[in-house]
Amino acid sequence: MIGTANGNAISITGLGAYVPERVMTNDELSTMMDTSDEWIRERTGIRERRIAGPGQALSDLCLPAAREALETAGVEGSQIDLIVVATVTPDMAFPSTGAILADLLGAHEAAAYDLSAGCTGFMYAVAQAYGMLAGGLAQRALVVGGDVLSKILDWTDRGTAVLFGDGAGAVVLERVGEGGFLGFELGADGSGGPQLYLPAGGSRTPATAESVADRQHFVQMNGREVFKFATRVLVTSAEAVLAECGRTIDEVDVYVPHQANVRIIEYARDKLGIPEDKVVIDVDRYGNTSSGSIPLALADAKADGRLQAGKLVLMTGMGAGLTWGSGLIEWTDGGRA
Ligand code: COA
Repeated sequence: MIGTANGNAISITGLGAYVPERVMTNDELSTMMDTSDEWIRERTGIRERRIAGPGQALSDLCLPAAREALETAGVEGSQIDLIVVATVTPDMAFPSTGAILADLLGAHEAAAYDLSAGCTGFMYAVAQAYGMLAGGLAQRALVVGGDVLSKILDWTDRGTAVLFGDGAGAVVLERVGEGGFLGFELGADGSGGPQLYLPAGGSRTPATAESVADRQHFVQMNGREVFKFATRVLVTSAEAVLAECGRTIDEVDVYVPHQANVRIIEYARDKLGIPEDKVVIDVDRYGNTSSGSIPLALADAKADGRLQAGKLVLMTGMGAGLTWGSGLIEWTDGGRA
């Protein structure tokens, strides 16, 4: 799917992020499994990640991120009429974490639900909310991307456990005077599903004592195949959205790729020809936070002053599905219509 703003000026008017307090370093992981700080840093760029506490569920991470996004947009929960939570680790299968969050925020007029597109979830959710605003169905949307992958990781599998962390980010989308989203490109290749998946717990393989004993309720991944896929789509998706919007890579001021692995990001940056100082990287501090990754990186870029009004920001995510998605936005720093 690909398309441009088509005359609509819809932008991010509020931004918030939250990560759990607990830091887990590579050295700590090395005491739990056969790995080392050196291996993890060299192969992934990750130094540490945040891990949710035993009682912390997704909505506990989303709530502070959402509150900050609402506050920076200067709106109340009751003014939100759409909530989309992108995640693969909802509080439970149902009710949706979106509905839980709507209640906690007092968003009683909002349609609220979850969206599952792996680590691309945030890009899908933003594009969907954008479409609802552009179509006139919604006036003010809250999009949250977050995951608590630590709860579904196999802590005996060094091939996956070292890569991920927990976190959430949120944005408010509204109509603005000018600027905002210029276009999106989203895609999915379901044939790649088995490369990164959670085998049991759904209707295909419901939970049984056997499925638990077989560790079927944990993330399984073919790292090398996912690496190849990720490096390919980060480039093709970015190129596609830029071409569709009539923009060039040289015009991009801030590049916000999904934070999975610094080697993947550097490969894409190199292929695309984006200078190093335009790339936002925080995977060293958070690991791969799945749907939380892009909004967390946006919050980082905002905090370090890179997200100024008028800047052209390119975001690209990729993940389970296999899915990918890019969005191009002319940053507006509020400025609602
Ligand atoms: N610590 C130490 N050694 C490890 C290890 C770890 N955590 N994980 C794997 N190894 C070992 C392997 O067993 C292998 O050993 P061998 O040569 O004796 O067989 C060796 O390191 C190299 O493994 P390989 O899988 O080739 O490493 P890699 O350079 O491909 O890096 C990943 C592995 C997982 C970091 C990399 O493939 C990757 O990042 N893939 C994409 C994952 C991803 O981003 N997923 C989410 C997408 S949203």
